Amino acid sequence: RRVEWSPVAVEKQGFSHFMAKEIFEQPQAIRATTSGRLPRAGEDDLGRGEPSFPELAELDVPALAARAKVTMLACGTSWHAALAGKYLFEQLARVPVEVDLASEFRYRQPIVRPGDLAVAISQSGETADTRAALMEARRLGATGLAICNVVDSSIAREADRVLYTHAGPEISVASTKAFTTQLAMLTLLAVHLGRRTGALTLERAAGLLDGLRELPVALDAVLGQAAAIEIIARRWRSARDWLYLGRGLAFPVALEGALKLKEISYVHAEGYACGEIKHGPIALVDERVPVVVLALEGPGYHKTLASLEEVRARGGKIIALASAGDRRIGDLADDVILVPQVDPYLQPILASVPLQLLAYHLARLEGRDVDQPRNLAKSVTVE
Ligand code: G6P
Repeated sequence: RRVEWSPVAVEKQGFSHFMAKEIFEQPQAIRATTSGRLPRAGEDDLGRGEPSFPELAELDVPALAARAKVTMLACGTSWHAALAGKYLFEQLARVPVEVDLASEFRYRQPIVRPGDLAVAISQSGETADTRAALMEARRLGATGLAICNVVDSSIAREADRVLYTHAGPEISVASTKAFTTQLAMLTLLAVHLGRRTGALTLERAAGLLDGLRELPVALDAVLGQAAAIEIIARRWRSARDWLYLGRGLAFPVALEGALKLKEISYVHAEGYACGEIKHGPIALVDERVPVVVLALEGPGYHKTLASLEEVRARGGKIIALASAGDRRIGDLADDVILVPQVDPYLQPILASVPLQLLAYHLARLEGRDVDQPRNLAKSVTVE
């Protein structure tokens, strides 16, 4: 018997697609991105809550919070990370943040002033719109900070300072581990800023950093449910329209979940903030529309359940993402995916993974070219 192999098959390390391999690399990618910045275990009391950001030593953080603002610039999946970044920076550090689609930024006469910080987020570091937006923000006087995965990329070179995610090469066009490592970097950064503005107590900061340190284990537990998520995908594979709902930090995760499905399966999906469904999208709901509800325990939980009920009352089919130990959700949803309990600020990283797996299995069942979807490029180097 001849054994078929190719360099590409070897690189996939037994996975049928790069996307699957990259989804499963996330515990390691998060560890690689965070470990160099986390205080060492056994650090004395003062160090426990302080992530290391020597790159930002000269940044006047109190002035940024009091008199200036952060503008985040990105496209696609990285823009979803930026939206989560806004929640993280504002809530944990009390630093005002605007988020712009890089392709819109230059054309709306943005108000950026010296003292502002422009944060360009890009996996590849080569997205032309993001690079041009960063250049414009710097021209207007902002300090440019890049969050990139590719070392020495164009955007990294354009910025005054660079923070690298260490996701490793991402081959699949649909971004997975680059996104969750961006979220991890933004969380670390929010904790750092929160310590420097005084918005975060040492105790709270240390708790978040401990949570980040333990996150790879929780991610392993989520990945352990891949087979169960495939069964859910089989059950709903004939659906042609999907809705994804989330509130607070789960809202950008819902947008990203819907984008993943569109990109690789060519099935129509939209993400919405829970509170918005009554302003339009609820008209789409009937028994043929699966609605993925991000209902993890935390501040918005009860309001999210209310939105879930609204959808259910109109015949919508519910796939709920919930926290382990949630006893109510089983009665309210048609399918439930449980993820381990973690700090609400760390939930976006964890909650992204089942949605990636769901999109992956749906695309595979459709027979799509998962790693190279039609009409898309890994990085778009034209404006
Ligand atoms: C392309 C890719 C997307 C990606 C976007 C931004 O459109 O297909 O997956 O999110 O570019 O890429 P970047 O490298 O700047 O994060």
